[in-house]
Amino acid sequence: MNLQVAPSLLAADFARLADAVDMVNRSRASMLHIDVMDGMFVPNISIGFPVISAISRISEKPLDVHMMVMEPGRYVGAVRDAGAALMNVHYEACTHLDRVVTTIHDAGMKAGVTLNPATPVSMLEDIIGEIEMVLLMSVNPGFGGQKFITNTVSKVARLRELIERSGSHAVIQIDGGVDLTTAPALIEAGANVLVAGSYVFKSDNPVEAVDRLLALDK
Ligand code: DX5
Ligand code: ZN
Repeated sequence: MNLQVAPSLLAADFARLADAVDMVNRSRASMLHIDVMDGMFVPNISIGFPVISAISRISEKPLDVHMMVMEPGRYVGAVRDAGAALMNVHYEACTHLDRVVTTIHDAGMKAGVTLNPATPVSMLEDIIGEIEMVLLMSVNPGFGGQKFITNTVSKVARLRELIERSGSHAVIQIDGGVDLTTAPALIEAGANVLVAGSYVFKSDNPVEAVDRLLALDK
């Protein structure tokens, strides 16, 4: 497997954002995960487009933007203009998911579809061939530092099976409560990209924390 790590900026010190981006630049992370929240789809509000634009000016890693907003199709152009390489939208937030995926591709970005913990992977059967990533939430979205939901491991296995069966090239990303204790079973089940917020940014040495996750790969 070629395991990838995507540090989630939500856990960084927002008074020192440039330092956090610099750390990710120096690390072996594959992408920088940015959480956008609207206070409707999820109870919290995080960062918006002006901040993402500023981050994209100094990030050497592709930006992976996780949209926790209702009807994210409204913001495809704004996400692209802010510098994102990949836009993740929630299945539960899109009335017309196929149209949103097409719009993301037409804007020149990779498309990811995200599932909340209670949404079954079978909901992706008719879109899996069109997307580059599936993001499985392993916590209920909205906040960093929550407890990992263990059912995610069997969900990864079921998604891996759907991907193989359909011939899709989508990678499997996991977000929420990922650390050295929860990651091994996820990797074993077939996860490709681990998002890690608290585990990386609350560590004494975030660059080494990324290395420790990558070292779990076989
Ligand atoms: C939660 C966000 C996550 C969050 C993960 O809604 O989507 O990306 O930053 O944080 P940890 O790794 O601390 O669970
Ligand atoms: Zn996220």
